[in-house]
Amino acid sequence: MKGNFPLDKLKNIQTPFYFYDTGLLRNTIHAAKSAANKYNYHIHYAVKANANPRILSIIRENGFGIDCVSGGEIQAALNAGFPAGKIVFAGVGKADWEINLALDASIACFNVESIPEMEVIHSLAKAKGKTASIALRINPEINAHTHHHITTGLKENKFGINLDCLDTTLDKLETLSHVKLTGLHFHIGSQLTDLEPFMALCSRVNDIQKQLLKRKIIVDIINFGGGLGIDYEHPDRNPIPDFQAYFEVFYKHFPAYPHQQIHFEPGRSIVGQSGSLISKVLYVKEGSSKNFVILDAGFTELIRPAFYEAYHKIENLSSGEQPETYDVVGPICESSDCFARQIDLNKTQRGDYIAIRSAGAYGEIMASQYNCRRLPAAYFSDLL
Ligand code: LLP
Repeated sequence: MKGNFPLDKLKNIQTPFYFYDTGLLRNTIHAAKSAANKYNYHIHYAVKANANPRILSIIRENGFGIDCVSGGEIQAALNAGFPAGKIVFAGVGKADWEINLALDASIACFNVESIPEMEVIHSLAKAKGKTASIALRINPEINAHTHHHITTGLKENKFGINLDCLDTTLDKLETLSHVKLTGLHFHIGSQLTDLEPFMALCSRVNDIQKQLLKRKIIVDIINFGGGLGIDYEHPDRNPIPDFQAYFEVFYKHFPAYPHQQIHFEPGRSIVGQSGSLISKVLYVKEGSSKNFVILDAGFTELIRPAFYEAYHKIENLSSGEQPETYDVVGPICESSDCFARQIDLNKTQRGDYIAIRSAGAYGEIMASQYNCRRLPAAYFSDLL
């Protein structure tokens, strides 16, 4: 089965471009929201997955907060109307101007990843006569069993404060007057389709809470980060991730203290399935060993297959003919500019429209201008 695309309307648009199904986006947001509400959990959407202004405004209308990792993302969040009190700021390398921007906006929380960063936030806050709320991002040393480029919670990863440095960090924190500890932050990786690592995370956080209690510390907020995966193989069968099962894991395995808030930072699971990259076939090149479908989109529009060997379902929206086997490639002058090797596609010819599915997360936002290409435009199902 192919997705539901208004081909007649799409044919009037210059390819390649992103097409967002805003109905699906809204349904996904509602599913996440109602599953979270059941346990009184809070969602901060991870803007890194997709910062398209219209998408941000749809997410903001639904009352989510926002998780940023750069000054640019904080600016995008403010421009989209997110209240500063719902912005959290993570990232292993926050520059002084970014910290100052966040302090001036009075964001809710800095997720701090090291002692030197904590010291810089303290001194910049002090200079402004402010106190910054911080959460310590702790590296929980949990293996997320996902692609090595997108696993973050292992000791060898650059992210977070190592467990064995936690006490030293807390000692240092006690000496800093312009930072206030409000939370703990974790994130173990992305595109997790197995919920087991989240259970392991819960039990690790339980242990950390016990360790903190010995120092009479109970933080207000526990932030479990993002990471819930989507079904790249079957976007039509599973258009909305199982948020209910996801939150239930935390409800069952993490007993929060009374009044403690639980936060999540989903990115991919909110926006991933609602976006597709639409491209046109430039040429079908028949070789002696294989046939190539050459698209007008390349890794400049969607880098995930080239960068992470990621699978995206590819469909020919124009053809209902018998499938043939092709390599589907882009026009960029690099061999890695390949979306899929040896896949079956309805017999394809020049001018056919191709949809590369599940591209709503880490698609448009990771586009580049390599080869002096134009950045892709975005269109929305309810505005065509
Ligand atoms: N919170 C933190 C601290 C993160 O580092 C991330 C993602 C998220 C939340 C959101 O994770 P999600 O719910 O989207 O899995 N470009 C890669 C993914 C990189 C993820 C980076 N961090 C990809 O295309 O697969």
